[in-house]
Amino acid sequence: MRECRIEVVPGGPALVRGADVVADPDGAAHPVTRPVVAVCLCGLSQRQPWCDATHKVAEGS
Ligand code: FES
Repeated sequence: MRECRIEVVPGGPALVRGADVVADPDGAAHPVTRPVVAVCLCGLSQRQPWCDATHKVAEGS
């Protein structure tokens, strides 16, 4: 079994390392093709389940 690590960035996404697949809230599976991916936690990304940095606009930075 491969290790998967998740780091939550305060006010931002979850950085996921070592995953093969990320499931969105509807249960759809999204293959992971990079060593680290940023998963949206704010719900505002237009590229769900991936973070597109919209959280920065939402927080005003
Ligand atoms: S956490 Fe970055 S767009 Fe949602």
